[in-house]
Amino acid sequence: METTLILIKPDGVQRSLSGEIIQRLERSGLKITGLKLLHVDEALAKKHYAEHDGKPFFNDLVEYICSAPIIALAISGPNAVQKTRTLIGKTNPLESEPGTIRGDFGLEISRNLIHGSASTEDAEREVNIFFEKNEIINYKKSTDNWVLES
Ligand code: RTP
Ligand code: MG
Repeated sequence: METTLILIKPDGVQRSLSGEIIQRLERSGLKITGLKLLHVDEALAKKHYAEHDGKPFFNDLVEYICSAPIIALAISGPNAVQKTRTLIGKTNPLESEPGTIRGDFGLEISRNLIHGSASTEDAEREVNIFFEKNEIINYKKSTDNWVLES
């Protein structure tokens, strides 16, 4: 079982796509194990995006993620990192397949609606940045046996 960090970025919230995005993630069978609305400040943004520090788009990326509230989700299930990245699509919406979140709703790389952790190591680090341990809730659903064989 894995837990990954998803952020519905400011453009996703502002465009009222939060419900649509959460529905797509939830419908896959993956489980919401953490959820909050927050307005990211510069320090948090720089910590989350530390791997991109020094890249030409870094300052714009930090400014964008701080520009309005976001929704942070912890999403759990087998291969949650890979599965959510598949549902999200490629970084540039122009290259994202139809049927993916970015492919269906995005036009530009700098307004690509959603973040998903890129690896299990990133996921662990990023979930811990956005959630306290007691804010992650693991629970059973009566449908679990219909989603997973064992
Ligand atoms: P994310 O971290 O947001 O899930 O996106 P990602 O893994 O698909 O892409 P990543 O390489 O981690 O880039 C992080 C975010 O930075 C913006 N970006 N802009 N202008 C550019 O060339 C450029 N490249 C990346 C995007 O918003 C991307 O999601
Ligand atoms: Mg990334």
